[in-house]
Amino acid sequence: MHSYAADAKRVRQKMAEDRHRPRYHFTPPANWMNDPNGIIEWDGKYHLFYQHNPDAAIWDNMHWGHAVSDDLVHWADLPIALSPGQGGPDEDGCWSGCTVNGEGVPTILYTGVQGDWALPQNQRVCLARGTNDLIAWEKHAGNPVIARPPEGLEVTGFRDPYVWREENLWYMIVGAGIRNVGGAALLYRSKDLISWEYLNPLCVGDKHDTTTLWTGSVWEVPQLQRLGDKHVLIATVWENDPLYSVYFSGSYRNHRFIAETVQKLDFGDRHFYAAHTIVDSQRRHIMWGFMGEGRSSEAQQAASWSGVMSLPRIISLRDDGKLAIRPAPELESLRGDHIRHTDIDLPNDSSDFVLDQRGEALEIAAEIDPLGTVECGIKVRCSPDGQEETIVFYDAARNRLGVDRRRSTLDQTGMISTDVKEGALELSPGELLRLQVFVDCSVIEVYANDYVCITSRVYPSRSDSTGVRVYTRGEARLNSIDIWRLSSIWEMA
Ligand code: FRU
Repeated sequence: MHSYAADAKRVRQKMAEDRHRPRYHFTPPANWMNDPNGIIEWDGKYHLFYQHNPDAAIWDNMHWGHAVSDDLVHWADLPIALSPGQGGPDEDGCWSGCTVNGEGVPTILYTGVQGDWALPQNQRVCLARGTNDLIAWEKHAGNPVIARPPEGLEVTGFRDPYVWREENLWYMIVGAGIRNVGGAALLYRSKDLISWEYLNPLCVGDKHDTTTLWTGSVWEVPQLQRLGDKHVLIATVWENDPLYSVYFSGSYRNHRFIAETVQKLDFGDRHFYAAHTIVDSQRRHIMWGFMGEGRSSEAQQAASWSGVMSLPRIISLRDDGKLAIRPAPELESLRGDHIRHTDIDLPNDSSDFVLDQRGEALEIAAEIDPLGTVECGIKVRCSPDGQEETIVFYDAARNRLGVDRRRSTLDQTGMISTDVKEGALELSPGELLRLQVFVDCSVIEVYANDYVCITSRVYPSRSDSTGVRVYTRGEARLNSIDIWRLSSIWEMA
């Protein structure tokens, strides 16, 4: 075994003792991770790169970590792909970017940071070429390939190149903000990935517009995807702090993107950040996001790890301009011990229906007919006495789906996020509530009716907070519920 992999395995074994550490979501072996970067399917394998500080569980000194998978589910650690280069344009960080197939050569375009990262002129586009196994990377001698933001534009951010091929040319967007205007994606073109010509802003937001979803001052990690006969621009809204990921659906013509709708990608806000989407060889659009922690930096450092990658999500576009979002079917390979119940009437007596399956690593799939209910849903990470619980709720009166983590922990320090996150879920008459909930220690990922997602993080204080319950206020019918225990993706032996 490669020594990096052996070391990583040892570290993972030690980390696995931490009961908040996810088992089937990707995490770095140890220390800090944020954005997914430059994911690519190459020679039949999925390569995942990620923003990584290998020295501490805090955001600093960014590298590109690397892992590989045959099946999108199980990952193997590979050596760090990119490290800051002393004296170079990336000496203070190798920030986010993408990987493309540059005429048969794996090619990374990323953000090099040199000097104070808060100044946009210190964020520059760099390039590196890889060996065919994507393990060894050589930085282009002429880096940076884009040395400064476009003339005449006063930008408040300039980072995260995303590149695609169109009519035999390369196109790139860079995440930016235009002072006093709003977030922006700036469009470039190139013949060779090295020499780039600035065209125009692909799309500019309006930070003064609060009539729709607010899109802030800077857009990070923008991506343009063609879905059916429409285009979708995905971006992450940054306002001195990470806020949330959004997507615009609209049209892409004459090198401009005209947005028609904007919505959140995930109602968990900063727990699903910096979404990164690829098209694989089966023409599937697969998306990952970075799930930041919901506890203090001190707690993260004490744990020696921070940051989790979401499950891979398959996206497509619905007729109403909304994204359909489903977990990748490959995840079913993790399913083990299973229980199923069907056709249960849930009376309006406010007692919970307790399921005979417990665990920290579960997948729950339920179909509920809300009938005349006011509210119903699933409680996870429940202690036997109900003192700790995280509630996935559907509020029928307000047409909202949410995750309520106000009682997710008995911890009294006030250093754990315990809020309620919610978003619109409108069931048409007769439509069933279809919930798929992934519980993985401190991770909760909720998928509802194939288009609403809420990602959250919880840190129950009790080790017996492993129960699952269904509840309702008003009568409802539980058509079916399946609960599987999911296995770990890491070989620990
Ligand atoms: C998004 C982001 C990117 C940047 C990277 C730095 O989370 O802020 O804009 O390239 O993270 O780690």
